[in-house]
Amino acid sequence: MTIDYLALGEELEPEEYVICEYRVKSDLDIETAGYRIAEEESTGTWTHPTTLSDDIFSKYGAKVVKAEGDMVTIGYPIVDFSGEIGGIPQILSIVAGNLFGLDSLKGVRLEELQLPRVVVERYPGPQFGIEGLRDVLDRPEKPLVGTIVKPKIGLPPKEFADYVYEAGRGGLTNSKDDETLVDQDFCPLEDRVNSVSETLDRLEEEGHLMIHAHNISTSAHEILEAADLALENGARQLMVDVLTVGFSGLQALAEDPSVDVPLHVHRAMHGALTRNPEHGISMAVISTLCRIAGGDALHIGTYGAGKMHADISHELRCKDILTQDMYGIKKMMPVSSGGLHPGVIFDLMEKSGNDVQIQAGGGVSGHPKGIRAGAKAMVQAVDAAYQGISAEEYAEDHEELRLALETWM
Ligand code: 3PG
Repeated sequence: MTIDYLALGEELEPEEYVICEYRVKSDLDIETAGYRIAEEESTGTWTHPTTLSDDIFSKYGAKVVKAEGDMVTIGYPIVDFSGEIGGIPQILSIVAGNLFGLDSLKGVRLEELQLPRVVVERYPGPQFGIEGLRDVLDRPEKPLVGTIVKPKIGLPPKEFADYVYEAGRGGLTNSKDDETLVDQDFCPLEDRVNSVSETLDRLEEEGHLMIHAHNISTSAHEILEAADLALENGARQLMVDVLTVGFSGLQALAEDPSVDVPLHVHRAMHGALTRNPEHGISMAVISTLCRIAGGDALHIGTYGAGKMHADISHELRCKDILTQDMYGIKKMMPVSSGGLHPGVIFDLMEKSGNDVQIQAGGGVSGHPKGIRAGAKAMVQAVDAAYQGISAEEYAEDHEELRLALETWM
């Protein structure tokens, strides 16, 4: 048998391969570029190893089944991912490993990752997902509307909880820590969770059901302890910065029986991987991994409505990945966050639909009449869009929304 990683035109059985699509920039022709990736990431290297038998190659060798334009499709046999341990680190070391540094390639971007059932079934998937979050909040149809407590660092626990109270009184369903806040001296996790939990209980007694995601992003050996601390003090939701913590940290939380609250997943640092159109890992791939690892809600962007760089087609693709059928695991709630305010909600919801958690930090806390009015304005904007009414029309008899539009439009 001749060792040849090119199997152009071969139809791969989706249950037997992990199938990846890569965008490649290289002086090599696209078939050779694909070949280099397949050999490096499966049974080959830069020489022909004398230890590589036909038998090993035929069982474990990756296959380049498509190489057209600047795209290659490579299938990795599922046996390359077998064994009791390995997990998401192993998946990534294979499909997104050495290939990014190959000198023969000027750029490579992993665009799509298609996992077979046998791989997906090893992972917990979302515990709550879209339906579970809606049940927790008794909000069956409308988008969830939230805020991020601002300033993102600096508020002590009491002032922090006061912000949450005002947001809840304004009608928000969600609030959260920001990605840089964890356990700093000015706002220790335990004290913050305590204050926020008391506040959420008070809000509930007053008829406002709300959850708050506490950021417990920390080192792998401490994250379950941090979760326990937060849960013992009444946390209703936990949050992780999945890329700085690692997918395995998210999975550890999702698999821990004591973690019986939804997991909110922030994607801080994703731009380093996702923003270059010629190199890196797409947000679509990150979305797939977050969903199998057990996140319940994931930041996927604002469809061009906010402050962060956006590619609408990529964000729509992420929404599909979180909500499409994936071997029976629950759907994950897409989160739109970053530079939002009431004036952009109508356009955003045209693209997001109603299964979305919309969040505004500056777009609530920067309202000229304060947090409660800012929260009300966001709720009004979502209510208007939900009914197909423009924000401008709705603002005619909604004072907080009118002021928000005057401020930001
Ligand atoms: C986030 O976590 O998405 C950001 O902190 C959003 O903050 P902003 O609404 O003020 O842009």
